[in-house]
Formats: sequence, C-alpha cells, structure tokens
Amino acid sequence: MTNQINKDKLLIIEDDTELSTQMKWGLSQAYQIFTAGDQSDALEIYKNENPLVVTLDLGLPPDPDGVEEGFRVLGTLLENESLTKVIIITGREEKEHALSAIGQGAYDFLTKPVELDELQVILRRAVHVARLELENRALQKRVGSEAFEEMLGTSPQMQNVFEMIRKVATTETPILIVGESGTGKELTARAIHNRSIRREGPFVAIDCGAIPETLLESELFGHEKGAFTGAHIQRKGRIEAAQTGTLFLDEIGELSPNLQAKLLRFLQEQRIERVGGREGILVDARVLAATNTDLDQALKDGRFREDLYYRLGVVVTLMPPLRERGGDILLLAKAFLQRYSAENNKQMRTFTPQALRAIERHSWPGNIRELENRIKRAVIMGDGKKVTPADLELASPYAKYEGQSLKEARKALERDMVQGALARYRGNLTRAASELGISRPSFYDLMEKLGIEK
Ligand SMILES: Nc1ncnc2c1ncn2[C@@H]1O[C@H](COP(=O)(O)OP(=O)(O)OP(=O)(O)O)[C@@H](O)[C@H]1O
Ligand SMILES: [Mg+2]
Repeated sequence: MTNQINKDKLLIIEDDTELSTQMKWGLSQAYQIFTAGDQSDALEIYKNENPLVVTLDLGLPPDPDGVEEGFRVLGTLLENESLTKVIIITGREEKEHALSAIGQGAYDFLTKPVELDELQVILRRAVHVARLELENRALQKRVGSEAFEEMLGTSPQMQNVFEMIRKVATTETPILIVGESGTGKELTARAIHNRSIRREGPFVAIDCGAIPETLLESELFGHEKGAFTGAHIQRKGRIEAAQTGTLFLDEIGELSPNLQAKLLRFLQEQRIERVGGREGILVDARVLAATNTDLDQALKDGRFREDLYYRLGVVVTLMPPLRERGGDILLLAKAFLQRYSAENNKQMRTFTPQALRAIERHSWPGNIRELENRIKRAVIMGDGKKVTPADLELASPYAKYEGQSLKEARKALERDMVQGALARYRGNLTRAASELGISRPSFYDLMEKLGIEK
C-alpha cells in the first residue's frame, strides 16, 4: 500500500457502518481513507491525521436521529482557522440543517442515499479548493519572511542591506544612507532605530532640503526667547527632541556651510546651543543621515565639508535602485496590490501578464515610491479584477500590436494612420495623403489594399 502516501486524506464520519464501508470501498482508489462512527473517534483521528477533506453525517450517536452531536463535531473541525473541507451527509428531510451547517463553514452537502459519483465530484472540488488555500497560506508565510522591519526584498542586494542594518543597529556609529529618491532611505533609518538600544527613545526625522535656510537653523537647534524678531517664546529644536533617540537628517547635502559647521560641532561635542543662547546643552542622540545626490561632487566643489563628511559617513550604505533588484520588483508590486486592494475594499487582486511585463520593463526612476504610487492609483481608479498596463499608466504604444507578426502589425499600424488622417481631414484625400507624406494615388492604393472605404 505504498501509494497511499501520496493520496489526500479523507475522514468519513458516519455511524451507519454499511454506508461507511460502501463509501470507503468506492473512494479508496483516490483517497487515503479513515473512518469514525462517533465523536471521540472522529476527533482523535482528525487531530492525528489532519485530513484535507471530511464527510460528516450530522446524526451521530448518542442521538442518531438528531443533529446536535453532528454540529458539535463540525464546530471542532472548523476551529483554529482550519482549512479542512467538511461535506455534510444528511437525510432528505434535513436539508435546512445542512444549509445551516454551510452557514457555519461546512463546504457543501449531499443528501442520502449517497450517490458515489456525485460525492466524487464534490470531493474533487473540495480538495482543489483546500489545496489552493494551503498554497496561499504558505505563500503568505513566505512573504512574511521576505520582510525585514517592513522592508520587502529577497534579492542579494537587499539581503546585503538587511545584513548591514543588523550589524550597525546596535552600535552608536553615524551612518550615511545614499540612494536615489524612493529607494527606502528613511525606512532603512527607521529599521536601524527600531533595532537599536534607542528603540524606546524618539525617532526624529528632518528634511534639510524642504526647509528654508533661515528657518532651518532654529528648527534644528531651537532658539531662546527674543533671539530674533518673532521669537516670542523659547523653543527646543529637533536635535534636542531626539534626546535618547535617533536623529535622521534627510537630504544632508542641502545643508548650508554655516549649518554644516554647527552640525559638526554637535557631532564632536554632543552639545548644542540654541539660537540666541549661551548655554551648551548636552544631547545624547545618534545621528543618521541620508542623501540622494552623490556627495563626491559636492566635496570636490567645496560645497560640503570634508570633516563633516567623515564624521557622518563612518559607515556609508548604498540603497540599490529598484531596477537592480531583480525579482523584488514583482514581489513588491504584488505586496502593494494586496495592501491597497484590501485597504480600499477592491477586488483587484492580480496583474494581467501584460502588466507584469510592463512592470519588469519599466526603469522605475522614482523607485519604490513610484511603484507604490502607481499601484495605489490603479487600485483606486480601476474597477476590474486585474491590473492592466493602462491602469498603471505603463501602456506601451506597441501594446496593441502584441502577439502579432510584423506583417500584421504593419498592416494594423497603416490602417490606424490612414483612418486617423481621413478622420482628421474629413475624408479629404489630398490633405490626408499630404499629412502622411505620400502622394494622393499612393494613399488611394493604400486604402484599397486595407479595404478602407472613404
Ligand atoms: N524594501 C521595501 N519594502 C516595502 N516598502 C518599501 C521598501 N522600500 C521603500 N518602501 C516604501 O517606499 C516608499 C519610499 O520609501 P522611503 O521614504 O523610505 O524612501 P526614501 O529613499 O527616503 O525616498 P525619498 O528620497 O523620496 O525621500 C515608502 O512608502 C516606503 O514605505
Ligand atoms: Mg526620504
């Protein structure tokens, strides 16, 4: 009986031994069968064998004419997010019980006398569904393990990033995160913070490129009352706000020479002065910085201080652009689709093959942020079940010719252009021909060849 191993397990819960023998005989070709005549046997086998499908007679001892015992068993079978498919076997007069069992999560029902053919069909379908659900669950688990602190990625490039985060998180070293826009620089900084001993402290992010120079100084260092016109009250800066936590300086390359000097002093002395203040304030914050421009050029041009660079960039981490992350692109696309269709209660769950290809072909200059935004928009605007290239606004001008031979595509293109020109010039052949750069007779020949009527 070696081939039993590969068969799906079926548990028959039936107190009528004649019927259960008959079912076992009829189904043992296709399934590895277990039988139970009462609740305790049934649950014992269920627990040990974990069958994919179960048939359940609702009338079980001690009350074979009632349905109580059957419903109790059903309840237990369906506990704990079980994926087991239960098929109710019931007498003709008990259809309403069968329906209520389905309401509770049974998969289907069959009335006695049991027709084996019919049961086979229901079982096959049940097994199919259960397998899909199992696969789906396994897939979701795997997606879970592909995530690291909310970052998805299985590519070697991202595994390196995760490895770096693991290594540096527990140290106090400043880290410079370099990457194109939308590559996850801030997410990486947060991951480092969340894995550090400072995780209970604040994570304070400030975008140096988004705040005008005149405001940035007091934003970073705070100011004393009366420090400048409009400074009516004393205010603490963002650096102080990061006390015991992590300070994340985004777009560090945008910092003015004056602020570069002040920041350097803070890094050297762990001490700041508020604008208009005299007292040095000790601040215990770890500094992480990010830039999307190559600081090398700024260093050469003297726009960025070398000593500051060496302080901030003790460890430099490069975030790979999305187009270099291989299979991660589709992994991320699918994850975003799942997230946003759930969030927006949409049924859009998959991509058309054309959409998948368009995603792989696009160069993603805006990286993950761009991918996320395109998918978010597709889900919000679209009504179908599948995301198309057009939903993503990635439709290629060649998309309509896909799958055609060059000859067919050429003909389709000619037809489009001829019809377009005719429509634009309301059937005026001379002007339509001139727009396409051919003579009137050639235009006419073309119309004939394509079977276009004027
Ligand atoms: N590996 C990843 N897995 C899942 N989501 C990611 C990943 N990397 C980035 N994201 C998401 O992409 C978006 C952009 O990430 P983030 O803000 O960290 O990038 P950034 O490099 O700081 O971008 P910018 O240069 O525009 O400031 C965020 O919504 C973030 O959650
Ligand atoms: Mg950012």
